[in-house]
Amino acid sequence: MTGSRFILASGNKGKLREFREILAPLGVEIISQKEAGYDLDVAETGETFEENAYLKASAICAASGQPAVADDSGLCVKALGGAPGVHSARFGGGKAWTDEQKYMYLLEKLDGASDRAAKFVSCICCVFPNGDVLRARGECPGHILTAPEGSGGFGYDPVFCPEGHEASFASLGEDVKNTISHRARALAAFAKELENYAHR
Ligand code: IMP
Repeated sequence: MTGSRFILASGNKGKLREFREILAPLGVEIISQKEAGYDLDVAETGETFEENAYLKASAICAASGQPAVADDSGLCVKALGGAPGVHSARFGGGKAWTDEQKYMYLLEKLDGASDRAAKFVSCICCVFPNGDVLRARGECPGHILTAPEGSGGFGYDPVFCPEGHEASFASLGEDVKNTISHRARALAAFAKELENYAHR
């Protein structure tokens, strides 16, 4: 696994930072698609996180001829029937909206709701130039706060409190988030897949 190098099919700086922090100690190098010279904005037309992760990773792998990895992730809120889910990045006013506008819109939708249960989901897909595909999934259960708190992280972090904690991902800080988050769990599972793949 040491010496593995992947292009991350994402323009999201928060995801890039977390991929690097979690995978660097395992000897896995992540380069952003921008650093690799690709500016693809792949249409996320899949109905599941798994499908969208594959669409993104396979597009960058096909364009570059190098192994590529992608994460498709989102927040699933029980009282909203699992929304925004795969549409988390496009919730409310879409990509034109800031993260703050999106999480404030979510708080509005949950105004007065007593059941605030939610989970973050991350699906990782890695595609090799020979067509081999590795997949991994991680989830982090928790609930939606009634007001935003904290300044760390990205996306919906200020309004999500993970199970077993009393504070948002944004206020818990990266060290804590990167041990318990959906992405940390998916990346741990991915690291195992990669290890098996290297020794197959
Ligand atoms: P996509 O995977 O590019 O479709 O975007 C996922 C969206 O889900 C992000 O733009 C965020 O809004 C949200 N999201 C995914 N993971 C996280 C996270 O770790 N913290 C906060 N928001 C997240």
